[in-house]
Amino acid sequence: MTRPVEVFATAEDLAARAASIVEESVERASEERRVARIALSGGSTPRRAYELLGASGTLAGDRVEIFFADERCVPPSDHASNYRLVAETIGDHGNVRRIRGEIAPDDAADEYEALLRDRFGAGEPAFDLILLGIGADGHTASLFPGELELDERRRWVVATKRPHAWVRRVTLTLPVLNAARQALTLATGAEKAKAVAGILAGGTGPAARVLGARLLLDEAAAGAGTPPPKRSARPPSDELLDLSTESDAE
Ligand code: 6PG
Repeated sequence: MTRPVEVFATAEDLAARAASIVEESVERASEERRVARIALSGGSTPRRAYELLGASGTLAGDRVEIFFADERCVPPSDHASNYRLVAETIGDHGNVRRIRGEIAPDDAADEYEALLRDRFGAGEPAFDLILLGIGADGHTASLFPGELELDERRRWVVATKRPHAWVRRVTLTLPVLNAARQALTLATGAEKAKAVAGILAGGTGPAARVLGARLLLDEAAAGAGTPPPKRSARPPSDELLDLSTESDAE
């Protein structure tokens, strides 16, 4: 499988590119299917892209529904809440479908799964776009290395069995992440370089198992470990780099 990778000189360039990919996806999907459905992640990396999306107002209308790739089991007002991040940056214009972190984790997962099954019906949960991050340990959404949730095949949404950084989480599962029409993974900073190298080398960590995800990286995240993106002649930031890995072709 070919992994599209783009490398940016600055975090601002990366954020602008991420915002424009989200906007293009929403434009196209809302024209083709009336309503675009996207799922967003939390963390610090996407904040600037969300601020740009908030400023442009593209996600404010009823032609888009905003879901979450994951949530910490905290109230929506908590600083750790992914809903709070989105509400503060993009804004909640009545089209944000949050995971209720304030109720029991398993109930929140059941409730969100029911919501997704209502939206996607019996078919695949094909989000138009899912925006993801990567942890230094290779986790993505709230799918952590070595955890049972990673092997879930039937359910679309689960609660993590264990807390991660002090709190349990609710997360979309790999079948949902892999069913998206487009998955976009953002990573910045040298602390992500090893996890990124693992993906590019065809690793088996959680983020590597989102097979079609397009990677948007800054140079620090792209620059260490096994062969980084080919950039003998560095292309313009909006040009894709094709990276084929042996394991991806399995
Ligand atoms: C979250 C996530 C999580 C995140 C990574 C990267 O809500 O925290 O969905 O998977 O994307 O941990 O987080 P940073 O962007 O903060 O590095």
